[in-house]
Amino acid sequence: MDEPTPVIELTAARKTYSSGQIEFEALRGIDLRVQSGEYLAIMGPSGSGKSTLMNILGCLDVLTTGSYRLGGDDVEQLSEAELARVRNHRIGFVFQQFNLLTSLSAWRNVELPMIYGKVDKSVRRQQAELALERVGLRDRLENRPGELSGGQQQRVAVARALASDPTMILADEPTGNLDSASTKEVLDLFDQLNDSGRTIVLITHELEVAQRARRIVTVRDGQITADAPVKAVAA
Ligand SMILES: Nc1ncnc2c1ncn2[C@@H]1O[C@H](COP(=O)(O)OP(=O)(O)O)[C@@H](O)[C@H]1O
Ligand SMILES: [Mg+2]
Repeated sequence: MDEPTPVIELTAARKTYSSGQIEFEALRGIDLRVQSGEYLAIMGPSGSGKSTLMNILGCLDVLTTGSYRLGGDDVEQLSEAELARVRNHRIGFVFQQFNLLTSLSAWRNVELPMIYGKVDKSVRRQQAELALERVGLRDRLENRPGELSGGQQQRVAVARALASDPTMILADEPTGNLDSASTKEVLDLFDQLNDSGRTIVLITHELEVAQRARRIVTVRDGQITADAPVKAVAA
């Protein structure tokens, strides 16, 4: 039987940064396929190219050579407007710094990308409430980030990522600024999201965090050095 179209299909992906005379090859030939519903951790030491890879996967940056297909679409062929649509509708981003606006309540933060995404005003509030309910924050709609714990703030950020009903969640070191209790909160939430069918790509340099995923891809010096199901890694 034919495999379904992968959500992510990277082939011979290379990324070179140039600043002045100096060039640095941050991705050195990456091949990666991720199917719908997978929960993947990308692991590697600092400087190995994880964030570069996330920027490519999230259509925030483009490859120097090689190809990236997202849900079967050739990303290089998309116009700026189409790329913006992809980022808004198909990808939910979660960052280490929660990137919440401190002056806005939880639901207003969740609403924000829907404003950019031109979602109708009448449905934005409802969608925001639903997303916050899904992350267990139904009773914190009106609280500002400063009134929430780190784990709660990151869950607001996850709700914001979910509000556009994206195909995949891309999380770059989402627990990097969290204590162990809050880390558990966020990883438990990712489990639930994955159980309900979401594709998750979780970037981390911590093995304990990566082991909460189902598959671990290890990156070193811009290349994949290992790719294995979590049980095999843990054994
Ligand atoms: N904009 C940039 N210009 C030049 N070099 C960069 C840039 N971004 C990242 N790099 C370099 O690429 C390498 C990989 O960086 P990064 O993807 O941020 O790694 P990680 O997220 O694994 O720590 C590092 O050596 C970093 O210095
Ligand atoms: Mg990084």
